[in-house]
Amino acid sequence: MIKTKVPSLVGTLHIPGDKSISHRAVMFGAIANGKTTINNFLAGDDCLSTIDCFRKMGVTIEQNDDHVEIEGQGIEKLNEPSDILNVGNSGTTTRLILGLLAGCDFHACLIGDDSIAKRPMGRVTIPLKDMGIQIDGRSNGTLTPLSIRGGNVKPTQYISKVASAQVKSAILLAGLHADGVTSVTEPHKSRDHSERMLRAFGADVKEDGLTVSIEGKQPLMGTNIQVPGDISSAAFFLVAGAIVPNSNITLKNVGVNPTRTGILDVLHMMGANINITNERLENFEPVADINITTSELKGIEIGGDLIPRLIDEIPIIALMATQAKGVTVIKDAAELKVKETNRIDTVVSQLIKLGADITATDDGMIINGTTKLTGDHVDSFHDHRIGMMLSIAGCICEGELTLQNDEAISVSYPNFFHHLNSLIN
Ligand code: S3P
Repeated sequence: MIKTKVPSLVGTLHIPGDKSISHRAVMFGAIANGKTTINNFLAGDDCLSTIDCFRKMGVTIEQNDDHVEIEGQGIEKLNEPSDILNVGNSGTTTRLILGLLAGCDFHACLIGDDSIAKRPMGRVTIPLKDMGIQIDGRSNGTLTPLSIRGGNVKPTQYISKVASAQVKSAILLAGLHADGVTSVTEPHKSRDHSERMLRAFGADVKEDGLTVSIEGKQPLMGTNIQVPGDISSAAFFLVAGAIVPNSNITLKNVGVNPTRTGILDVLHMMGANINITNERLENFEPVADINITTSELKGIEIGGDLIPRLIDEIPIIALMATQAKGVTVIKDAAELKVKETNRIDTVVSQLIKLGADITATDDGMIINGTTKLTGDHVDSFHDHRIGMMLSIAGCICEGELTLQNDEAISVSYPNFFHHLNSLIN
């Protein structure tokens, strides 16, 4: 991909479906009783990996672009897969499916790509083993390839050291098949899509501060899911609208679940001209339209409780900070090191190539703005969000930016370049 400076970005986009919600809709639909219909499903590589895994366990799933129909017959009707389940690049598929397989009295094997092979799975496999599940794999069952034999789940009261929706969801899904109550307590609140969607499927999920609990053996009933636009995908165009001159972008039907809207808080704090309208509850998730225009930005400090609410947006926030006056400090974000790439390393190394004044720290980065960026040869390192961040950087670079491994973007936003090009005047 080659990108050069653009004069403005103007127009309206319908952001594709939320990745976290799309995964969960397929998984819960596959273990529910009765039909589940999903609209605005994200047909990106990660969610297609989830569909593929459930087809290998005998679930009938019809997928036509962003419309999906699942014939759920209850978890007990899932078949022992005769083939390895390939999770591709998807951490959410890996961790949530492990929790769900805990409830299945059969053997399954999970494998993914080179990035998945580096990601820590012990955060899920260790508590699942404590719940009585047999799991083995590389590095004492903490790295893929992993094998699991579920059945006979014991409930747990788990206190997690990380604020991770994947950990929380995996344990709750395992607990759904235990006798008694399972709870997870987190250090900060992580995204709550599982809790909301389990309720939409008829389950009773309780929340008390940072603790979420579920009573086991509750049946799920198939339902209709309308997936909101992914705020993590919208974030690239929100930042683009703020930093590209003469821009005015409207994004329709964006999910604004408060556990995900850290990016909107940051845009407000940095002084962006952002307008949120038409806020409504669709299904069980809040949705809104968002408009942004070119803005004068200032540096801020980002840390603490805010981090889980914007963890996936930090690459694009870092780019925005290069165009903000003063210093931006991002801290308490060591989780960036265990994403699709080590995002402290990949963000800092690639933005330095473009001329940014950015320094890596142990748990984040420090950015001095404003700096003029200049095109260079950069790499996504097969990380979709690094690829999209660098493509937006290309829109403000003097000279040509060439991006290697841009195909990774299809993990979460297959029509990203089509959307970007449609805004260029
Ligand atoms: C996700 C949770 C987050 C997020 C990931 C999707 C989910 O990961 O970074 O992109 O769908 O539950 P962690 O749970 O590891 O924080």
